[in-house]
Amino acid sequence: MSRMPLPYNPKVLELFRNPKNLGKMEDATVTAVAGNPACGDMITFYLKINEQEVIEKASFESYGCAANIATSSIVTEMIKGVKLEDAWKISWKSVREAVGGLPSIKFHCGVLAVGALHRAIRKYYKNKGVSPSWLPEGLSFEEKQALEEEELAKILEKRLKTAEGK
Ligand code: FES
Repeated sequence: MSRMPLPYNPKVLELFRNPKNLGKMEDATVTAVAGNPACGDMITFYLKINEQEVIEKASFESYGCAANIATSSIVTEMIKGVKLEDAWKISWKSVREAVGGLPSIKFHCGVLAVGALHRAIRKYYKNKGVSPSWLPEGLSFEEKQALEEEELAKILEKRLKTAEGK
């Protein structure tokens, strides 16, 4: 059975082939992961943040699909030189628009990228022991979705292990 290629737009394909800011950052101020290595959809964000709470550098590593690589790449471009408060406002929908649209089956890939960004910002403040007034206590939509996906992947992994043992 042959699989239909996904209708990615040229911008997504270009970002997938030539992603910006790909790779580990040794001097990152904070790193955050979203997704689950067991199913392969995993992304790590690295942020270098200065005293003024501005993101000086951002990079990522991705084990996800083309859409995940493209959205992660564009997120690192969108947040460079941006204050954390403004970077927090980036939503998966704005990322989807920035890459020129995604097939609906691939929306979650962009959600994961923003989930990782939100986690990184949250972790930065947690490490500092401060909580700015603009940072919501509850999880953002993207953080919730990432968590849900991770929990689902764990359940699936467990079921597969049980099935293998039978
Ligand atoms: S990251 Fe899961 S399909 Fe793209």
